[in-house]
Amino acid sequence: MTSTAADFQAAISRVGSFAAGLIRPGMRLGLGTGRTASAFLDALEPRLAEDLRLSAVCTSKRTEERARAMGIVILDSTEEPLDLDIDGADEIDPQLNLIKGAGGAMVREKMVAERSRRFWVVADSQKLVDRLGERRPLPLEVLPFDWRGTSATVRAISGGELSLRGGDDPFVTDNGNYICDLSLPAGIVHPTRLARQLEEIPGVLGHGLFLGTATAAIVWNGQEVAVKGDLDALREGI
Ligand code: A5P
Repeated sequence: MTSTAADFQAAISRVGSFAAGLIRPGMRLGLGTGRTASAFLDALEPRLAEDLRLSAVCTSKRTEERARAMGIVILDSTEEPLDLDIDGADEIDPQLNLIKGAGGAMVREKMVAERSRRFWVVADSQKLVDRLGERRPLPLEVLPFDWRGTSATVRAISGGELSLRGGDDPFVTDNGNYICDLSLPAGIVHPTRLARQLEEIPGVLGHGLFLGTATAAIVWNGQEVAVKGDLDALREGI
């Protein structure tokens, strides 16, 4: 478990370097959002002096700015599936199901992850949980129109507490919507059922449950970088 900001930074630098070392020339990447995804880009940057010819679909405006400045070719579509998506998470359960969205980018992040042949989640050990929702709320992207009505429906189906991110000065996503964070006192007992229920609510445009999407996790466990998932693909590259 990492405890200080410096420990966290050191941990994500290590997983970022590990993941960057596995990138092969010509890859079409999905690039995530957040501190860990950014640590991956930090580690990748020196490798761009090699003839890597990377291109990427970015999951947020800030990631796109950074990738463009590094010389990565920016793609605007996943019509042709991507080779690999690299992104962080807020929580990771033992089956590699995730909660994402603390940075508010989870709708684009999920679209890109689903259109990638492989999705490697990069994290430090504080993101590992036994049950999703036990430490972090579940972010929902909601339409600003009648967000209070949408919140009431979410409360009724989930029994949880909902708060508008940013309060009186709401956080606005890259897609122009609000984020409501859903806290469930006992965590998320039935993630698949909750995901389906949320997807049926018209004002909910997306949620941060990523179920069965990650193909591998690259995690600093305090002593070393530990890998769980498609190990062979990780070792051999793609
Ligand atoms: C962005 O919306 C999120 O899904 C992030 O990927 C996630 O919150 C992890 O972020 P950190 O790496 O900053 O913890």
